[in-house]
Amino acid sequence: MEKIVILTGAGISAESGLGTFRDEGGLWSQYRIEDVATPEGFARDPALVQGFYNARRAQAAKAEPNLAHRALARLQRDWPGEVVIVTQNVDGLHEAGGAQDVIHMHGILAGALCAACGHRWTAPPEMSVGEPCPACAALNARPDVVWFGEMPYHMDTIYDHLAGASFFASIGTSGQVYPAAAFVHEAAMSGARTVELNLEPSTGASSFDDVILGPASETVPRWVDDLLGPR
Ligand code: OAD
Repeated sequence: MEKIVILTGAGISAESGLGTFRDEGGLWSQYRIEDVATPEGFARDPALVQGFYNARRAQAAKAEPNLAHRALARLQRDWPGEVVIVTQNVDGLHEAGGAQDVIHMHGILAGALCAACGHRWTAPPEMSVGEPCPACAALNARPDVVWFGEMPYHMDTIYDHLAGASFFASIGTSGQVYPAAAFVHEAAMSGARTVELNLEPSTGASSFDDVILGPASETVPRWVDDLLGPR
């Protein structure tokens, strides 16, 4: 059975109203990565960091999955082999669109993590500074998201999937953040056919066998239709 591994980034949620990072007016033009997305930034100003993620959690809670999220869930349901969705996104829109077993390599806004003991629990809508861990009562709860300088989650599982992939698709990501940006090489080395679906060619577009340009809500359903063939 042929396995499809899909990597998604902020571009797949753009049409759900969630801002990307590096497009014009994106999050990284409004905030400094060092301030809000590093362990050092959190140590320096936890209130700023909690506020940043509280705002993003509130925005994500209001967002609806779009046609691209739904098309990937359909692919998972109807493809005769396995379809593995790996996302860099911390929203829950793949799941809201019906996808199963999504691998959140950069964590998830809906989660809280105790920086002292590693316990995880469901984040309240608003996390505050000094929020106690329900397991050890330490007061340094943080959003369960991966920051720059930290190891993304589930890497062994992801590399295992890439090694067994027949197809690899990268959707809505600028390809500027590693290790995700190198997945295309891992998949290609395993003999997978690779495709990028993005609004514009990413930095690594030349590494893909095929590049499909346009908004994800249009390109992804069409790509899924092509893969599944006539019904
Ligand atoms: P970026 O903001 O870097 O890239 C978003 C990509 O989506 C760009 O290449 C856009 O061209 C594309 N795009 C925008 N709108 C689109 C649409 N409607 N349809 C299709 N594509 C569209 O976001 P990511 O690549 O996801 O990590 O960023 C990777 C990581 O960098 C994030 O997970 C985050 C960030 O810093 C951490 O915070 C650790």
